[in-house]
Amino acid sequence: METVVSGIRPTGKLHLGNYFGAVKNFLRMQNEFNCYFFIADYHSLTTHPTPADLHNSVKRVLAEYIGLGLNPEKCTLYLQSDLPETAELYLFLNMNAYKGELERVTSFKEKARSQPDNINAGLLTYPVLMAADILLHRGAKVPVGKDQEQHLEMARTFGNRFNRLYQNEYFPEPQAFNYNDELVKVPGLTDSGKMSKSAGENDSIYMGDDAETMRKKIMKAVTSVVDKPSEKGSIKPSAVQNLFDLMGLVCSSDVINHFENTYYEGCIRFGDMKKQLADDMENFIAPYRNNINDTLNNDALLSKIANLGAEKARESAQKTIQEVREIIGFKKFY
Ligand code: TRP
Repeated sequence: METVVSGIRPTGKLHLGNYFGAVKNFLRMQNEFNCYFFIADYHSLTTHPTPADLHNSVKRVLAEYIGLGLNPEKCTLYLQSDLPETAELYLFLNMNAYKGELERVTSFKEKARSQPDNINAGLLTYPVLMAADILLHRGAKVPVGKDQEQHLEMARTFGNRFNRLYQNEYFPEPQAFNYNDELVKVPGLTDSGKMSKSAGENDSIYMGDDAETMRKKIMKAVTSVVDKPSEKGSIKPSAVQNLFDLMGLVCSSDVINHFENTYYEGCIRFGDMKKQLADDMENFIAPYRNNINDTLNNDALLSKIANLGAEKARESAQKTIQEVREIIGFKKFY
């Protein structure tokens, strides 16, 4: 079975867009591949979080992924910092990663611009750490978004370079992986494009939102400049289309047809439509929210899962590190 590796940045609070864009694929992959999913807590140190923030956000994403359906029996779910082997492979790969190529990475240039007071070496070598994550399990498939393609390309470069240097086809070439389903569109509530944390608190519907918070955000959603129905048969402004797109995710086709028709006839009441969307959204999200909260409040379960994951991941990591050490020439003679 092919090995899948993917890292989750512990940035807290997953929203509907993350669910349909990433989590759902993970849920499917755990049934079909040998999956290693981990929380990239070493990576998050590049921005110097406080110990309390780091701890809380790691716990939160772990609880969210479990609450949304990642199953520690089916996949290996662990914390990156539970595998010091990651840091060792990172060290080895760093000997073989060049300043020039690292400085040319887009994400590095962006970070250097946005945090000029903290251009640390970890930021520069972020792609090396990511390569270590993947190569540590000799991963073949990496489910990541477009924004990570350059990093993945570097992981291939570092793996190949190692293979060439030691004349040993040890590391496979990790490839980006996507199911070829049509991409689901999950727009935000503020008419600023796809749902995004950076578009402000009111743009996103979080999987952990309580009913009231979620309802308020939906009721406040922008519909159109004039906020009243337009003439019969007119094209929907993007803000209105966004609400229809969201309805497409959680409402029945009867409901959708009803509002399509009233929109077409020019007699739609956006208040009614939002109310319906909020009701159906609540039905969709409530079970997830409950699971997330139950998990978050269950320290015993969280530590059991983290321990199990660390144990399973360590097995694969230790094997790789041992072999890599030998290939490099660290052979026991004493
Ligand atoms: N860089 C990835 C992101 O920002 C997270 C990540 C870290 C990752 N290590 C990885 C993803 C290894 C895939 C494989 O989303």
